[in-house]
Amino acid sequence: MVELVPLEKKFLDIVTKWNYDPEVSLYFSKRAPQSRDQQLLWLYNTLKDSSKKKFIIIHQVSKNPVGMVSLMKINLTEKQAEFGITIGEKNYWGTGVAAAAGNMLMHYAFQVMTLQRLYLNVFENNSRAIHFFSGLGFEKTGASKIDSDGNVVIEMQLFQSNFLKNHTRP
Ligand SMILES: CC(C)(COP(=O)(O)OP(=O)(O)OC[C@H]1O[C@@H](n2cnc3c(N)ncnc32)[C@H](O)[C@@H]1OP(=O)(O)O)[C@@H](O)C(=O)NCCC(=O)NCCS
Repeated sequence: MVELVPLEKKFLDIVTKWNYDPEVSLYFSKRAPQSRDQQLLWLYNTLKDSSKKKFIIIHQVSKNPVGMVSLMKINLTEKQAEFGITIGEKNYWGTGVAAAAGNMLMHYAFQVMTLQRLYLNVFENNSRAIHFFSGLGFEKTGASKIDSDGNVVIEMQLFQSNFLKNHTRP
């Protein structure tokens, strides 16, 4: 259903479009880079940062880029990383594209990179995303924090052992 390709410069405009979409970015803590120079700097810094891996989700039938999945704060010593997903093209919400891309990234993280834990931070009021992440197997850790805008952010996690129990092949 989807293919994951590494983020590169040709996707900068579409990623910027998604970041500026108020519905898509409603639950993001970080502000999108404003000027073209800031966007290019964000891309440059992201691509050279070995603690981050970002992939564009390509819908296999239409060949359109529809979103992005990310591993961030990759820590190979602690064997863990932060997981992120955005479906920027809203007409693909509810189509199964997000679950397909999320599963591919989890296979990559747990089976190729052999990480042991994935975690994520999600706004407490982002019910759709929390429901979605629960469907992927993530569970609330009970940890929460308040971001600089006063939003309550909760943590969810998934262990490699739990993932592998339910999935044996991509
Ligand atoms: C979060 C996101 C990736 C999920 O993708 P999606 O295609 O919308 O997800 P799905 O429709 O497959 O799954 C969402 C689930 O929540 C349910 N849902 C939808 N709206 C809901 C709501 N307001 N409250 C609770 N559950 C809701 C759906 O019925 C579905 O449940 P099901 O799988 O049991 O049928 C996507 O909506 C997105 O990119 N949102 C904007 C960015 C974002 O919030 N990213 C996460 C930041 S941490």
